Amino acid sequence: MTSKKLLASIKDSSTSIKDSSTSIKDSFTSIKDSFTSIKDSFTSKKDSSTSIKDSFTSIKDSFTSIKDSFTSIKDSSTSIKDSFTSIKDSFTSIKDSFTSIKDSSTSIKDSSPIPDLMTTQTLGLEQNLYDYLLSVSLREPEILTQLRQETAQYPIGRMQIAPEQGQFLALLVQLLGAKKTLDIGVFTGYSSLVVALALPRDGKIVACDISDEFTAIARRYWQQAGVADKIQLHIAPALETLDRLLATKEAETFDFAFIDADKSNYDGYYERSLQLVRPGGLIAIDNVLWSGKVADPEVQDNRTKKIRAFNQKLHQDQRVSLSLVAIADGLTLALKK
Ligand SMILES: C[S@@+](CC[C@H](N)C(=O)[O-])C[C@H]1O[C@@H](n2cnc3c(N)ncnc32)[C@H](O)[C@@H]1O
Repeated sequence: MTSKKLLASIKDSSTSIKDSSTSIKDSFTSIKDSFTSIKDSFTSKKDSSTSIKDSFTSIKDSFTSIKDSFTSIKDSSTSIKDSFTSIKDSFTSIKDSFTSIKDSSTSIKDSSPIPDLMTTQTLGLEQNLYDYLLSVSLREPEILTQLRQETAQYPIGRMQIAPEQGQFLALLVQLLGAKKTLDIGVFTGYSSLVVALALPRDGKIVACDISDEFTAIARRYWQQAGVADKIQLHIAPALETLDRLLATKEAETFDFAFIDADKSNYDGYYERSLQLVRPGGLIAIDNVLWSGKVADPEVQDNRTKKIRAFNQKLHQDQRVSLSLVAIADGLTLALKK
């Protein structure tokens, strides 16, 4: 071989080796790339798996969240339903409370001893005629005038009887020759004092009231007038006091009874008084015209209805002689036969 050919052959081999080296290098690069690729693939697969797992976790969480939302919606619905039930119950309760308040008001109004229009002067008279009546007939002792003036200062002062009515009661007591009387409803003491002043020295009044406060004023005036020893005050429901009198054999021992306490018990007071007064004894019942409300068909409250029924009963009651006198707020006189 010529040196020229040898050199050419070496050069070709070198080129070939260089090419192979390049090829090997390229293969290694390729293998390296493959490994990188494989590694990337593995990384990618791992990431994908993680991602899929995460997605499943996310989906699961979403389902849990949806389930929780449904549970929450269900709970909210139950809560809304409960709230509506509670609101409904509250309205029922409010309605019941209003009904109860209305009933209580009616009951308080009916049991209050002070009617809306209770009067301390005779009904239906023009003021100038009423003033004239007083000016030519009233002989009111100074102590009674003082009691009337003091009582008039209280808002409930109109529960007091009228002065011309007091004088009329005193006349009746004198007419009967009464010694023993009943005063049912004392208040500040006008009716008991006017009767006590008309009774003889040994006269006696059994006085009934439930109020210590009102009757403290009455006691003061009885003392001042010097008639306290004639008056036995019983602080208790008058029905109980009257029943005790009947139980202690005081039936038919009274000459006169004046009924002027709570109107709802008028019939009970009348029936007991009828047993306690003697034949020929007199029962006087106040407020039977009830400020005119008894004659007004529009008025249908319990007390007015009770007074109407009471008046009708007495109209038919043959155990007594009867007169309804249009003095003050109306005074029925029932004389026991
Ligand atoms: C209209 S005032 C009496 C007025 C009195 N007669 C006068 O001349 O001034 C009615 C009185 O009855 C009393 N009263 C109310 N309910 C009673 C009851 N169940 N028993 C006894 N007194 C009662 C009240 O305290 C009140 O003092």
